[in-house]
Amino acid sequence: MKQQIIRCSHIEKDLAGLLRGLSYDGLFLLTDENTHQHCLPLIQSIPEIQSAKIISIPAGDENKNVESLSKVWKFLSENGANRKSLLINLGGGMLTDLGGFAAATFKRGIRFINIPTTLLGAVDAAVGGKTGINFTGLKNEIGAFAPALAVLIDSNFLQTLDLTNLLSGYAEMLKHALLCGRDAINGVSTRDSLNELLRFDLERIDYRKLNDLLFESVLVKERIVTEDPTEQGIRKALNLGHTFGHAFESLSYELKRPVPHGYAVAWGLVCELFLSVVKFGFTIDELRKVSQFVKENYGVFAFDCTHYQRIYEWMQHDKKNESASINFTLLKAVGEIEINQTANQEEIDETLDFYREYFT
Ligand SMILES: NC(=O)c1ccc[n+]([C@@H]2O[C@H](COP(=O)([O-])OP(=O)(O)OC[C@H]3O[C@@H](n4cnc5c(N)ncnc54)[C@H](O)[C@@H]3O)[C@@H](O)[C@H]2O)c1
Ligand SMILES: [Zn+2]
Repeated sequence: MKQQIIRCSHIEKDLAGLLRGLSYDGLFLLTDENTHQHCLPLIQSIPEIQSAKIISIPAGDENKNVESLSKVWKFLSENGANRKSLLINLGGGMLTDLGGFAAATFKRGIRFINIPTTLLGAVDAAVGGKTGINFTGLKNEIGAFAPALAVLIDSNFLQTLDLTNLLSGYAEMLKHALLCGRDAINGVSTRDSLNELLRFDLERIDYRKLNDLLFESVLVKERIVTEDPTEQGIRKALNLGHTFGHAFESLSYELKRPVPHGYAVAWGLVCELFLSVVKFGFTIDELRKVSQFVKENYGVFAFDCTHYQRIYEWMQHDKKNESASINFTLLKAVGEIEINQTANQEEIDETLDFYREYFT
């Protein structure tokens, strides 16, 4: 399951070095229309890439579907891919999910490399082995666990990404920092990531610094996934912010004011930290700092108490629940994780009251 995660100092050199150390028969590259335009130029000077067979699919999550998947399978098949071929996925989470699943299923599985080009992709989707597509209107309905051979992380790709997509991934970085605290990862002690993230200037981005923060964040996910690849236990920690987050995301679609996943997670984090204060004595000071950052950068998702019941119903139907009760990951403190927690409707309503008071 262990994936090689490469922190790039120079993407062309790092990718060329990786490819030269591998033996494969036929190199394929998958892009979407945006990564073809913005990201391919950053690796195009590599001779191996110049001779690779390139396929591009339409961008957007609505295209993470069986039609795009079939297009990739067809392209591989018609261009002589065999079980020793290698696929490079160059794109955000939509593309690495779809490309990973295409690779996992083509001729019962070929190897693939992920080069994430969005913050969400780098910090979350490209790492951890979950691949798949949406089907019959359901997110990630069809998929497989299939780790990439390697994931190359380079924040230079992010320079063409808009602020909305950047913030969407940033929420998952906040989540990782809350989960990890000042723990040592792989024997290397981490910095105070949470406070560094809360202080980071998202209006004038220092990409070198972002690369450091990003790589640390990826290691948090990698460490958790390595411990529990199939989500039997600690991997559920990654669900922090997502029980409320998914419900907000669903409500936003129902109210026809859709919000990006990461925004819903940011608001969800605030709610689940409040619940952590109530149930585990998480410090109010940390809750205040995170809430302030979220309010300033993500704005407000407005709803009123007539929506509480609907939010509650979505939480009850969250696929992460194992029994009738709603499953939360909560924190005793930054880095002190409590998985498999639950809350009753009264506590959930109280949390929503807090959210509405704070955000309006
Ligand atoms: N596998 C997992 O564990 C996992 C985890 C989280 C999310 N996901 C999946 O990830 C997807 C969301 O990922 P995403 O937010 O990266 O979406 P995305 O891949 O759709 O990218 C967002 C937009 O940015 C464009 N883009 C990508 N890189 C760019 C760049 N460098 N410059 C300019 N534009 C660029 C894309 O073309 C797209 O229009 C969802 O499908 C979600 O289900 C998977
Ligand atoms: Zn998420």
